[in-house]
Amino acid sequence: MNIASKNKKLSVKQLYGLLEQEIENAKANKTFKYEVPIEGKQGGVVQVANKPHVMLASNNYLGLANHPRIVQAAKDGLEKYGFGMASVRFLCGTQNIHLALERKIAEFLGVEDAILHSSCFAANDAFFTAIFSSDLGVKEYRDVIYSDQLNHASIIDGIRLARIANKTTDFHAYKHSDLADLERLLQANQQADYRTSVIVTDGVFSMEGEYATIDKFVALAKKYDALLVVDDSHATGVLGKTGRGTPEHCGVHGQVDVITGTLGKALGGAAGGFIAGKKPLIDFMRQKSRPYTFSNTLPPPIAAAALEAICILEEDPSLVEKLHSNTSYFRQAALDIGFKILDGIHPIVPVMLGEASTAQDMSQQLLDEDVYVRGLWYPVVPKGEARLRVQISAGHEKKDLDKALQSFEKVGKKLGVLA
Ligand SMILES: Cc1ncc(COP(=O)(O)O)c(C=O)c1O
Repeated sequence: MNIASKNKKLSVKQLYGLLEQEIENAKANKTFKYEVPIEGKQGGVVQVANKPHVMLASNNYLGLANHPRIVQAAKDGLEKYGFGMASVRFLCGTQNIHLALERKIAEFLGVEDAILHSSCFAANDAFFTAIFSSDLGVKEYRDVIYSDQLNHASIIDGIRLARIANKTTDFHAYKHSDLADLERLLQANQQADYRTSVIVTDGVFSMEGEYATIDKFVALAKKYDALLVVDDSHATGVLGKTGRGTPEHCGVHGQVDVITGTLGKALGGAAGGFIAGKKPLIDFMRQKSRPYTFSNTLPPPIAAAALEAICILEEDPSLVEKLHSNTSYFRQAALDIGFKILDGIHPIVPVMLGEASTAQDMSQQLLDEDVYVRGLWYPVVPKGEARLRVQISAGHEKKDLDKALQSFEKVGKKLGVLA
């Protein structure tokens, strides 16, 4: 459809036409995101097109999404607390189970308090907007945010919102995981009269499966008196000997100022997010977070099941151990077969393929071989760095991983990825 450049007003019909065209373009450019439905529960093996498939695309790191104790906790929560609260937290949406979950999250992460949100996306939006748009009695203040170039979309959006709410907030995107670049920026601003400096990083970067060296961030934040915020969505329940995330893995458990995270990945995989940190900050968020104030409370069965997920982790580290041993097994075997993977220890294992078309063909052919894995390509990752993002789970048995590896080898050879 050709819209004359002079008159940019669209009829509603034209708008729909243009939207359709966008979709067609995405399909033609092979950037359209297709959904492959699962006929049943999430797990190490799932049912697709009436056949079992090894699931290598889920954030169900601990295999808790359908663990019997989690399912029972959700049922008990439903019985005891009901389905929904039909309210935001501060009106009549706070139950004992919400408070118990907040206490448990804080205790697990070694901080003073935590506040639930409907998602980590909402928590990240909430945090930045609340902090930077409140004057806290300081006149004509200016703040500064230092954010990793590859931080998650929710951090980027949170910062965008915060800078709309307060146009004086300065922003620097430091080079990915480059502490020298971050320190150069911190140093350059030492004489600037900022009220608050905030450093924010993903704990684990989800396209690379690479973790941030949080011990070094803690040291830098202390040196320059900055508030350190870590989004540990892909690390809580995953990294560290007991699953307490990147701070535990890096030997600084309890030393990060603010941790944001999700209940939608390792911790049961349903939904929900949180901000955890010092009590005054969490108390302040309860008053000022807009998604907390103006959006519904977490459904009680989800709160009950997430609480149970953390109890399971506290009682028994064997799921985390199984996740770690499954991960090293798959990583080593993929290397032995001859695949190029990004080095690391995280259950996100990027299998590097180069061209987008190779990643697309390989994920489709693996699906035909009963292996469910998704490809990533430009613009999600840089051009020429298309990959399959394998995600390992404690819900996998060795035979599932062996089956996946055999299929990877077969399809890799067929497509000329392997010699
Ligand atoms: C680093 C990071 N932060 C936040 C989120 C959003 O979490 P939620 O699904 O709870 O909104 C994700 C999920 O993709 C993530 O990877």
